[in-house]
Amino acid sequence: MRTLFVTGGAGFIGSNFVRMVLDEHADTTVVNLDSLTYAGNLENLKGYTDNPRHTFVKGDICDARLVEQIVQRHNIDAIINFAAESHVDRSLVEPGVFIETNVKGTLTLLKIALEKKMERFVQISTDEVYGSLGPEGYFTEQTPLSPNSPYSASKAAADMLVQAYGHSWDLRYNITRCSNNYGPYHFPEKMIPLMINNALNDKELPVYGDGLQVRDWLYVQDHCTAIWKVLTEGRPNTVYNIGGNNEKTNLEVVRLILERLGKPDTLIRHVTDRPGHDRRYAIDSSKIMTELGWKPSVSFEEGIAKTIDWYLSHSDWLGRIVSGQYQSYYEQMYAGR
Ligand code: NAD
Ligand code: DAU
Repeated sequence: MRTLFVTGGAGFIGSNFVRMVLDEHADTTVVNLDSLTYAGNLENLKGYTDNPRHTFVKGDICDARLVEQIVQRHNIDAIINFAAESHVDRSLVEPGVFIETNVKGTLTLLKIALEKKMERFVQISTDEVYGSLGPEGYFTEQTPLSPNSPYSASKAAADMLVQAYGHSWDLRYNITRCSNNYGPYHFPEKMIPLMINNALNDKELPVYGDGLQVRDWLYVQDHCTAIWKVLTEGRPNTVYNIGGNNEKTNLEVVRLILERLGKPDTLIRHVTDRPGHDRRYAIDSSKIMTELGWKPSVSFEEGIAKTIDWYLSHSDWLGRIVSGQYQSYYEQMYAGR
């Protein structure tokens, strides 16, 4: 039996990962530490909280005593660190908490992983650490780090700490750098679920700037299978880029959502751009594809259809989120923009 210490397992990607592990890997147990910030939601784990192979702990990855207690109580083989403040726009308003969780929290976990000589520390990083691309080229694992937002700067700092622990003390780690995810349980501050929610409610769709920024979209379950591959087969102390090979402009994505929901393009409203907005991300995934035999299995057309259907059939989940604190967040970010 393998025991994984998953952090941030009540968020978007973490909860998809925990459900995948419990469904598909009967020899694996999960201890899931999540502080349930605005983005964490136990509803994302509905039907899985009573699973005997899953222990949920509400708490902060910066809390060294709690982390130590968890590790004493469970025989942990590996840490998979999803826990983070994850939204670029929030990092531009309130960067401090990004440093706390994304940098100091990662350091807390690194210390314990090293002390207990864990088999692996998997840091879930992002392609945003590489900065922004022009119209040509791709991010490879050799692309220098050049983060542009407080969010991506905090993730790059965490990556460097992980590498420093590997270099100085032989901690066995992997870092994954993935492109934009989408799919079920995506918090509606992020573009795709925000646009779906607004379109469903006939509200304007706030496209930043000219809307020609490019992202490389990957269905979340494909990201989860890639992380599993890295955890179980990845070469220690290396980085793996993970991407969907699926570049779209934001306007293309927004128009597709409107079309599928039968709503008019007149709902699109161009608003003031995000400060320092990265123009284009595109990932070269050839390393994980050739070394570990991973490839995405869900096309964007299929994935966006599944995602929209999921939001239509989970209106209770969405309704509970957007009727709470979200309203003041939305007002703060978008009113008069
Ligand atoms: P999310 O915001 O949906 O979830 C983050 C989770 O971490 C939440 O459940 C939250 O409660 C928890 N958390 C936050 N601070 C914590 C703390 N101090 N202690 C314990 N738990 C805490 O984020 P996500 O989109 O699921 O992203 C997960 C990870 O993947 C992040 O590290 C992010 O940088 C990375 N990533 C995300 C994407 C993407 O497109 N969403 C792409 C590449 C990488
Ligand atoms: O690339 C990986 C990253 O993808 C992750 O590391 C981040 O955690 C994740 O949030 C995501 O970052 P982005 O900033 O790319 O995602 P977001 O959904 O916020 O925005 C996607 C694009 O849509 C981006 O170009 C900004 C634009 N956008 C976003 C919002 C919320 C809009 O035009 N309007 C909006 O209202």
